[in-house]
Amino acid sequence: MADADHLRARRIEALRLEFGKLYGVEPTAWFRAPGRVDLMGSHTDYNDGFVATMTVDRDTWLVLRPRPDHRVRVASLNLGGTAEFDLGEIERDQAVPWTDYVRGAAAVLSGEGHALTGFDGLLHSTVPFGSGLSSSAAIESVTLLGFAAVSGISHEPLQLALLGQRVENEFVGLACGILDQYTSVLGTAGHALLLDCRTLSSEAVSIAPTLSVVICDTRAPRQLTGSEYDERRAQCEAGAAQLLGRPPGQARLRDVSLELFEARASELDPVVARRCRFIIEENARVLALAEALPQGDEELLGRLYDASWAGAIELFEIGAPAMAAMHAAMDEAPGLIARRQAGAGFGGCLVAIVHSGEVEAFAGHVTREYHGATGFEPSVFDVRAALGAGVVEPG
Ligand code: GLA
Repeated sequence: MADADHLRARRIEALRLEFGKLYGVEPTAWFRAPGRVDLMGSHTDYNDGFVATMTVDRDTWLVLRPRPDHRVRVASLNLGGTAEFDLGEIERDQAVPWTDYVRGAAAVLSGEGHALTGFDGLLHSTVPFGSGLSSSAAIESVTLLGFAAVSGISHEPLQLALLGQRVENEFVGLACGILDQYTSVLGTAGHALLLDCRTLSSEAVSIAPTLSVVICDTRAPRQLTGSEYDERRAQCEAGAAQLLGRPPGQARLRDVSLELFEARASELDPVVARRCRFIIEENARVLALAEALPQGDEELLGRLYDASWAGAIELFEIGAPAMAAMHAAMDEAPGLIARRQAGAGFGGCLVAIVHSGEVEAFAGHVTREYHGATGFEPSVFDVRAALGAGVVEPG
């Protein structure tokens, strides 16, 4: 049996076994939703901009069995704590925060007027937590799928992604954009997506076979707080409003050309001007990347990634010491083509484009260098784009 098949079979067995121990029966329905990595386009999503994004072949599974009442019980194979709540009374749980993505999915669907059926469920995730690979969006997507199935709710994939974003915005309280949930639900196997966050549409972008996408997870404690994310968002909105002469909240940097920005940048608060420049230039880099990826244009990939990294550190200021150490650990790495931040920044992982035949040598080098410099054991692994969220056939 191939490695991947073997791991899948073991996962199915472990979930069946634990489900039986917890609930004394077999699960009746199985769902999965992948994490994602952005290949270009940091913080462009809430500016109505573009992102080059792809799913990763790490995902969250939810197995469940409907209940005859309105209760929900959920445990996890690899996360501590459980949730048990009534669908008529859904509150956040500060003590076991991952369960808020489950609770929030129920709250948002109920808020839409759906009569939900309760279930007993068990989760298992191979998406690392807190690394910027959208482990939370994966839980949201898989839970929404589960509730929709047991409650007989039909849905379009885009609707599901938007509901997932509302779980974050309205229930968890993070004013994120659509990137994570869109990718997790609508991702295409074997391809990246060029996502337009204004029209909420995407096209598949192929990745030249000479290129591998490698996650370099710093595994250092993440520094992202909601307040820093919200601050970046507010600065972008303030800049767009001033540059376009519209009320705050009704202007997006997507509509500001580099020419307009350069002509008027001196009128802006200098910090706001730096934030705006980054987003406007990053949007242009996304479109250029969508050309460079299928062609495997290494020189262009390197230039785009270097400019994105420099902008993230100097203009958008979403760096962290562990990210700098990881970037430095790649300096002499064999096979390196390009490297930049991934996710929201403030820690988490970097993403590298590496020559396909040299991934192992690259990973060994980066792991040694990063560990030597920081004392932390990083996690370096290549990823392939997997199909977006859906049903699992356990066989
Ligand atoms: C987080 C958010 C996304 C996006 C990225 C940064 O992942 O959830 O909406 O803003 O950060 O690009």
